[in-house]
Amino acid sequence: MRNSLNRWLQPRVEALGLEIGAANLKLVEISGSPPVLKGFATRPTPPGAIRGGNIVEPSIIAGELREMLAEMQTRKRYVVAGVSNLAVITRIIQVPKMGERELEEAIHWEAERYIPFPIDEVVLDYAPLDPPAEVPDDAQLDVVIAAARLETITQLVETLKEAQLEPVVLDVKPFAGLRTIENYMNGEGNDGAEPVSVFLEIGAESSSLVLSRGARLLMHRNLNISGNDFTEAIAKSFGLDFSSAEEVKRDYGLATIPTEDEESLLDFDAERERFNPARMYDAIRPVLVDATTELRRSLEFFRVQIGDIHIDKGFITGGGSKLRGLPGILGEALGLQLNPVDPWDVLQVNESQYDMSELHKLAPEFTVPVGLGLRGVDPLD
Ligand SMILES: Nc1ncnc2c1ncn2[C@@H]1O[C@H](COP(=O)(O)OP(=O)(O)O)[C@@H](O)[C@H]1O
Ligand SMILES: [Mg+2]
Repeated sequence: MRNSLNRWLQPRVEALGLEIGAANLKLVEISGSPPVLKGFATRPTPPGAIRGGNIVEPSIIAGELREMLAEMQTRKRYVVAGVSNLAVITRIIQVPKMGERELEEAIHWEAERYIPFPIDEVVLDYAPLDPPAEVPDDAQLDVVIAAARLETITQLVETLKEAQLEPVVLDVKPFAGLRTIENYMNGEGNDGAEPVSVFLEIGAESSSLVLSRGARLLMHRNLNISGNDFTEAIAKSFGLDFSSAEEVKRDYGLATIPTEDEESLLDFDAERERFNPARMYDAIRPVLVDATTELRRSLEFFRVQIGDIHIDKGFITGGGSKLRGLPGILGEALGLQLNPVDPWDVLQVNESQYDMSELHKLAPEFTVPVGLGLRGVDPLD
């Protein structure tokens, strides 16, 4: 009797998924199991409102979020929100297997060595990568630690409160993305065990690279290249301001060496001529070189850390991956195919309720928000 009453007093909450991105705000409502898409909203982040992973205009963001909630007509106010990649440091560490209380102490101790700012200005979280019960007593426990500056987290929470939202979980964005695509990562790898995957997410201001076995995290690293770098290269090369360059990037941007075919497609349209493929490629090439170099270095770093592994699968997502030809070029640099991800595939979607072509166009942008929303279906688990 007492038990059932307790249960009754703890209603199940469902939370929205929210990403406050440097380029776009994204909200998604998912419900039940199997998960159903109930609604979503996205709009551009007001210019200058986010800088270096920090919310510099909380009231402006909160105002936008309130409008998005009204647009979605949802009454849910709990959220699972992503923390900017630029504000989070993650490390995977090994500790001897130990009890929960001891682990907490050990992690705190270890974290001080890895985190480049004072530990009392930091919010720390951690999770064992394998269920401790399944790890043999004499084995090491792999634990992922995430640390963010207290100031950044406070700013995020204040912004959410101002939007009348109640955060139940704050999550690391690439880990949320991993949750969305975990079903793609199953199967059998080259060595007969679960396949090893790399997962690249390219946002406006930051990107991240994840290495996993099955859906189990092996390594994670933030990358120094992102969508804005391409926009800035175009702005500089053609003498445009940022927002015009952004538009030009979407219309004419490309990451492949133009073929003669493409050249001959040119008509006498002055704008097409100005942003022709050869010029566009010239503008973007330095960023591509940096991107491919950084990717190769990251893989080398992974290999140094965990030994020479065969990578079975590759995935690419994030709005920045929409640059024409980019997945191909980056895949070539890594020596594997980078496949696009469609986060809507993991949800039940009522096709008469949505403009499906619009939805699929937004797939790269929504991989992370859908992962946050999936966590929100059972946030207290
Ligand atoms: N068609 C396109 N071609 C190239 N880049 C694009 C295209 N569409 C969107 N982007 C880029 O995607 C980025 C935004 O993606 P998004 O995942 O929403 O980023 P964030 O989460 O950081 O706000 C921007 O850098 C934008 O320029
Ligand atoms: Mg993003």
